[in-house]
Amino acid sequence: MTERRNMLVTSALPYANGDIHLGHLVEYIQTDIWTRFQKMRGHECYYVCADDAHGTAIMLKAEQLGISSEQLIEQVKARHQKDFGDFLISFDNYHSTHSEENRHFSELIYKTLRANGNIVTREITQAFDPEKNLFLADRYIKGTCPKCKTDDQYGDNCEACGATYSPVDLINPKSAISGATPVKKESTHYFFKLPAFTDFLKQWTRAGHVPTEIANKLSEWLDGGLQEWDISRDAPYFGFEIPDAPGKYFYVWLDAPIGYMASFKNLCDREGIDFDSYWRSDSSAELYHFIGKDIVNFHALFWPAMLADAGYRTPTRICVHGFLTVNGKKMSKSRGTFINARTYLDHLHPEYLRYYFAAKLSSGIEDLDLNLEDFINRVNSDLVGKVVNIASRCAKFIEKGHDGILSNTIAEPELWQKAVGAADTIANAYENREFGRAVREIMAIADAANEYIAGKEPWKVAKEAGREAEVQGICSMGINLFRALMIYLKPVLPEMATNAEQFLNDPLGWQGDIQPLLGHHINPFIPLMQRVDQDKVDAMLNASREALPPAEEAPKSTGPLADEPLAAEISFDDFIKVDLRVARIVKAAAVEGADKLLQLTLDIGGETRTVFSGIKSAYKPEDLEGRLTVMVANLAPRKMKFGMSEGMVLAAGDKSGIYLLEPDSGAEPGMRVV
Ligand code: 2FM
Ligand code: ZN
Repeated sequence: MTERRNMLVTSALPYANGDIHLGHLVEYIQTDIWTRFQKMRGHECYYVCADDAHGTAIMLKAEQLGISSEQLIEQVKARHQKDFGDFLISFDNYHSTHSEENRHFSELIYKTLRANGNIVTREITQAFDPEKNLFLADRYIKGTCPKCKTDDQYGDNCEACGATYSPVDLINPKSAISGATPVKKESTHYFFKLPAFTDFLKQWTRAGHVPTEIANKLSEWLDGGLQEWDISRDAPYFGFEIPDAPGKYFYVWLDAPIGYMASFKNLCDREGIDFDSYWRSDSSAELYHFIGKDIVNFHALFWPAMLADAGYRTPTRICVHGFLTVNGKKMSKSRGTFINARTYLDHLHPEYLRYYFAAKLSSGIEDLDLNLEDFINRVNSDLVGKVVNIASRCAKFIEKGHDGILSNTIAEPELWQKAVGAADTIANAYENREFGRAVREIMAIADAANEYIAGKEPWKVAKEAGREAEVQGICSMGINLFRALMIYLKPVLPEMATNAEQFLNDPLGWQGDIQPLLGHHINPFIPLMQRVDQDKVDAMLNASREALPPAEEAPKSTGPLADEPLAAEISFDDFIKVDLRVARIVKAAAVEGADKLLQLTLDIGGETRTVFSGIKSAYKPEDLEGRLTVMVANLAPRKMKFGMSEGMVLAAGDKSGIYLLEPDSGAEPGMRVV
């Protein structure tokens, strides 16, 4: 038994303005497997995370939704936590960077850097949106590419020709937020003197804290000369105001990694853990950050420099992974391969994906491909066909013939030795984040176990009188091999392991040598995993496929549709684009020459709209006047035979009739409906 280690482990903090998708899950599943493994081995290991809740993108998204930034981050955090929980990601704490702990540490660290003379201010000139009164980051400026003249390109690069440039080079630049033409404006910014840490970082990045290929990349930057890091943003900004600098806010990337500390502090306060023993400069605890290769500079340059300067310990290791591709390509909405966590969960079991990712993960930074055909085959063949099969073939003979009692001896000591003798190799593979190698070792044992059972044919032996003990010996051997496999797979398949624990009447521990269960009572077999069904995978892809732009055709209907099948699933982002408002019907009138239409005059809180609605068969115009209903307020106006229709009212309908939607009393015209 090795020494008990103290470990603090993090995954990158997801932004609080979008849903978790399978690309994110590579990292959370990787980290979760690793921390579950460490805990199983008896170490004190904490896995913390949080929502990354600050920044312009979150502020603008909230504004677009008509809610406060605080409301948005609360809603998104709840969704994130549900998705993670359902993927069996077992955080010890999940917090938010918009928290008191994070404000405390952000201010404290900043003040220490400032006291050390490592914060400077400088005037800089930036693009400014004169309508929104907002400085514009490059990605919020759009215009015509100066090289290939394609319209609607972002401020720093052209998607059509790949050119990179500065936003001032764009032809006809516009603010992507308001459409206004940006102007140049000066303001004071706060900078962290990163170049002062060049020598420290040259040494640190070569001391085993980052993968070698990453260290090589960082050397290019370190040798080329580091720039001072701009850590402030001007109001309006959703974040923490910088001490003694009214109207200046910490840039989101300043307080994001501090969010790791904040989340851990929140856990420490709740559970009485000694925070300082993990963070003081001479701490012997280990600190691991799992991240994607796109955010290496923040974690391997800015973050260690800040920590060192502020008198804290630096990370033990930055564990970097590559991106996810699906069927060999970048995830794509039109192909249906941009799959949200929730859409996956609506169709498939989380452990299928956990196993598949584990089987393909290494400690390297190359991209990981989710090939869906391979996914189905591998889960079905390995987990259902090999692992579960061992237990299901053996269990019934123990249960029926032997009252659920395993034999007192191991029938095939050599095979048993092979299975438990692999424990160190498998543990080393897990430790070094070579999960694919661990899975290969585990499946080799599963193959040997299946060969053994196939060769011994207990189902035939069971038919011969007087050979009961032999059957018990073979099947007990099989069950013990299954148990060893489930111990090894427990970090990857926690739910299946819990069910196996119930069946085996054993806690599947992995501290010290694995001993066989002898003369031990097991419970009746319970199904442990269903096969992956191709139809479910197809349904998931269909649900993820973004509707292609509609054909150029006349609007299908001016009234409710009967007998419509359910439309394809849409994302929350799609749904929220539809601006539904409470409307008062101020006037309703029949339309000359139209059998089905009523002309409605709607008040949506200070604004009046005319809408033609196919509800004439159900309502007398005079009965509608004064009533409240709900309308789609941001539908493009439609030219109809009788005039312009400026929206749509909502009504349910089928053969039995048409039923206009009405909010509960108390609702006011203009209120947003979500
Ligand atoms: O890239 C991202 O999604 C960031 N929200 C990650 C932050 S990780 C940490 F530094 F907070
Ligand atoms: Zn171009």
